[in-house]
Amino acid sequence: MNTKSILFVCLGNICRSPMAEAVFQRIVSENGLTSKFEIDSAGMLAYHKGELADSRMRYFAAKRGYHLTHHSRPFASSDFDNFDMIIGMDDQNIDALKAKAMTMEESNKIYRMVDFCVNLHATHVPDPYYGGDQGFENVIDLLEDACAGLFTHLKV
Ligand code: 4NP
Repeated sequence: MNTKSILFVCLGNICRSPMAEAVFQRIVSENGLTSKFEIDSAGMLAYHKGELADSRMRYFAAKRGYHLTHHSRPFASSDFDNFDMIIGMDDQNIDALKAKAMTMEESNKIYRMVDFCVNLHATHVPDPYYGGDQGFENVIDLLEDACAGLFTHLKV
């Protein structure tokens, strides 16, 4: 299996995409394939640059055994060169990424997270930032399902 590089993208890079990074990292690690994957996350906004994930996201992540250590960073055009897949959490992220793509090759690297869901059905991973606790649990539910589907997709 060739090494695969995957970048998860949301708006602030403090809730959904660092969570996706941790969920996918754990699946890869549990399958003994850490050396075969490069996994990172980024946000379309630079507003939270340098910050750890939102404390609520870290709290709900920790309840399921995930330790979020990522520091927010903005998406950069060079990410199109450095990653094989760039996976957005909602259509706003996808549209913003497509607007930054300079070639079809770059555009073809953009994917929608929920398209890898296996058991759950959703049109997007909803932004939990302005909502309540259930929004954070829902994000992790969706990401655990979608990341499992993504891993299966990449293994074959
Ligand atoms: P995320 O959530 O995109 O899942 O990291 C957000 C975090 C912060 C903001 C928006 C969404 N914000 O506008 O500051």
